[in-house]
Amino acid sequence: MLQNNTTTESPLAPIISVRSLWKIFGSNQDEIVNADEGDTDKSEVLQESGDVIALNDVSFDVFPGETFVVMGLSGSGKSTLVRCLLRLIEPSSGEININDDDILLYDAAKLREFRRNEMAMVFQHFGLLPHRNVIDNAAYGLELKGIDKDERYEIAKHMLEKVGLDGWEEARTSELSGGMQQRVGLARALTVDPTILLMDEPFSGLDPLIRRQMREELADLQAELQKTIVFITHDLDEAVTIGDRIAIMRDGRITQLGTPEEIITNPADDFIKEFTRDISQTRVLSVQSIASDLEQVFETTARVSEIIEGMEDTGKEFAFIVDNDNKLLGFIDKEAIEAAGNDAPLKDMDLSVIEPIHESTVIEDVVQLTLDNPYPIPIVDDENILTGLATHDAILQAFAENALQQQSN
Ligand SMILES: Nc1ncnc2c1ncn2[C@@H]1O[C@H](COP(=O)(O)OP(=O)(O)OP(=O)(O)O)[C@@H](O)[C@H]1O
Ligand SMILES: [Mg+2]
Repeated sequence: MLQNNTTTESPLAPIISVRSLWKIFGSNQDEIVNADEGDTDKSEVLQESGDVIALNDVSFDVFPGETFVVMGLSGSGKSTLVRCLLRLIEPSSGEININDDDILLYDAAKLREFRRNEMAMVFQHFGLLPHRNVIDNAAYGLELKGIDKDERYEIAKHMLEKVGLDGWEEARTSELSGGMQQRVGLARALTVDPTILLMDEPFSGLDPLIRRQMREELADLQAELQKTIVFITHDLDEAVTIGDRIAIMRDGRITQLGTPEEIITNPADDFIKEFTRDISQTRVLSVQSIASDLEQVFETTARVSEIIEGMEDTGKEFAFIVDNDNKLLGFIDKEAIEAAGNDAPLKDMDLSVIEPIHESTVIEDVVQLTLDNPYPIPIVDDENILTGLATHDAILQAFAENALQQQSN
């Protein structure tokens, strides 16, 4: 069962499915795991023994192509969790299904194959081989797979280009800045074309500016490669920027699991609320949530006179033109329509094209666009159907409401 998961279910089958995962560090592991059903017994044993519960009955699903963020303070169990996904740490009990296979049942040979082909990991401290140059580091995973030199260099070179390291193939990794070393780490992970990319605080050691840049580059890469990513961070700002969904961990448990919007607007407990208070809701709320009702929308069969009349009635000097499925075709302003000089139907006129915004765009990303534009910006869905308008007033109001909300927290 998903914990506190209020997200709409994805229609896809999960690629990672973790059920009741426990990890206890200490000498009483077996005793604890074999204790009677129910976690109260386990807690009691633990209290007496002083062992550490790093993972406490953790369950979640990750869907293909998703960026799934695990967030929590130091010691909350994040690294233990991703390490279990690779079986770098053996869980004390529970199930880890990946591609419908229970990886906890793998023997050593199967596990090796799985690690080489399905998963790749990017670590906080890069984990590069210091005596090898950039391209040999990037090609390392392919070398382990026994791919010959020409081929692996070709793939690695291509991936180094993608992460912005074109021309650095021969450099020693020790000559590179932190950000560049982590690009090598990323290239190395991606050269093996893994199904799943695990990233354990990959940008934590970097300067804030570089960190933000790496975050954006990862988002661009992800848009192109569509990997399934499990990304660990202790930074909520980073989590809401890159996460499709976020699992918040505390003391080895997932205390909330949801989209950034769900977590920021509806924190599950006071602890998460405290965490989220500095994040502006405008970073996670979609423009659709503040869209104004449609007005001044006409089909191409409308006539010039009808539109001019509409403009006079409403005092709005613009009109959006749609086809009969309500798909956005263009835009016309008062000046253009008055220049028409006759009462032709719209379909005979040249319409200006106006770039719409997708309804899932977050408010903060459209502020500049709405302020730069004298008219509302049309909002469309995946099918280019006009669903609402983003107006200056609505955007400013969202910011004002957020400021009030943050004050009252
Ligand atoms: N090998 C180990 N032996 C004993 N205890 C461990 C071991 N590894 C982790 N722990 C404990 O398990 C808990 C979870 O640790 P983990 O490293 O998973 O946390 P984390 O969320 O990744 O923290 P950080 O943000 O500091 O990396 C902590 O209390 C930690 O001390
Ligand atoms: Mg960690």
